[in-house]
Amino acid sequence: MIGVAILGSTGSIGEQTLSVIDAHPERFKVISLVAGRNVERLAEQIIRYRPRCVSVQDISARERLLALREGNPNLRQSLENVELLYGEDGAVTCATASGVDRVMSALVGFAGVLPTLMAIQKGIDVALANKEVLVAAGEIVMRAVAQSGVKLLPVDSEHAALFQALMNLPRQDVERVIITASGGAFRDKSRAELQHVRVQDALKHPNWKMGNKLTIDSATMMNKGLEVIEAHWLFSLPFEMIDVMIHDESIVHCMVELIDGHFVAELAPVDMRLPIQYALTYPERVRLAPSRLNWQGISKLSFRPIDFQRYPALKLAYEAGRQGRSYPAVLNAANEVAVRLVLEEKIPFLAIEPIVENVLNRHQVRSIETLETVREVDRWARQAAEEEAGKWMVPYSNKKMFD
Ligand SMILES: NC(=O)c1ccc[n+]([C@@H]2O[C@H](COP(=O)([O-])OP(=O)(O)OC[C@H]3O[C@@H](n4cnc5c(N)ncnc54)[C@H](OP(=O)(O)O)[C@@H]3O)[C@@H](O)[C@H]2O)c1
Repeated sequence: MIGVAILGSTGSIGEQTLSVIDAHPERFKVISLVAGRNVERLAEQIIRYRPRCVSVQDISARERLLALREGNPNLRQSLENVELLYGEDGAVTCATASGVDRVMSALVGFAGVLPTLMAIQKGIDVALANKEVLVAAGEIVMRAVAQSGVKLLPVDSEHAALFQALMNLPRQDVERVIITASGGAFRDKSRAELQHVRVQDALKHPNWKMGNKLTIDSATMMNKGLEVIEAHWLFSLPFEMIDVMIHDESIVHCMVELIDGHFVAELAPVDMRLPIQYALTYPERVRLAPSRLNWQGISKLSFRPIDFQRYPALKLAYEAGRQGRSYPAVLNAANEVAVRLVLEEKIPFLAIEPIVENVLNRHQVRSIETLETVREVDRWARQAAEEEAGKWMVPYSNKKMFD
């Protein structure tokens, strides 16, 4: 039995991880569940999976979870021998608890950095969905992976695809890799049309059902930018060798171009349970019943190059990635703040890119030696992004009033 810690168990990846575990009860045992504030959903998971360690985002979420025991004898009983923690320390304790063989790192944003890093340092294999971990702290995380010799298994569908496509290819034969992008909710809109979009429109992704931050990141294409940086770290690829193409159908997840002109591509259904399962069972492959490509329904596979004028966030991410050092951490933190404010309807969708760009321009680059430096950079960038966002808030709320 593989003992699993799920960081972000109430999220989109977390829930799909549990459904993979449901499909193979003889293989997996849930040891830890880490969630944010959705304590109602977490309570159901605790009753069903009986973890030994549970952690929530903060003390008030812990209190709300404890309050749910009233009138719920199943929850009361299920919590009896559980270590019930909160905050970053709680997430670290759950990620590194005894009996954990593999961590599913699926928190969203910077919150996942420390628990993921601590699990790696403890010698625990990690299935990585939380791409922001590598964007913010790639250098430190990859150094820890090399030192501890653990497996860092990609869950993002494009990276799971690259992991498989590159597996048997000699590195000197690879000319470049291409990761595909669906184009997000606004792929058919011009930039002028984006002036008037609302949050609820941005949250309608054409192909995938994902968490809110990621759905907004897909609409700006910042998500693909974060993935380019993630691919750089996971596969030691220079940025010149990583390209992106828009592919409406989300069936081809990556292509590897070889020096003689051949291409090796990976195709898979639009179903995150495939990469999740492979990251949990690797190196073994296990049958996953319902997920098959339905070739009857596929009449075309289309590919378009990226227009960087249309998607400036992707350009910013490439630039931050190429500059390296503290720039990617700044890009990530500024983007997290801007996306949160868009989701709270305090700034317009089109404010994200200028906020990130201005924060990057204001940043005095630093070399990244320790996690403490990453944290300092992250804190600075969040503060700077709040300041930049302030310029958008009053005009936006006035505009909304008169709309
Ligand atoms: N969804 C996908 O299809 C997909 C595909 C590829 C990669 N990814 C990556 O996987 C990660 C997760 O994505 P998602 O779509 O699953 O996000 P999501 O649905 O928003 O889930 C995020 C999870 O993290 C928890 N959380 C957030 N902040 C926390 C904190 N400070 N402390 C503890 N828990 C916290 C949330 O808890 P509550 O909900 O309880 O508050 C939730 O369980 C992201 O980095 C994303 O880019 C996702």
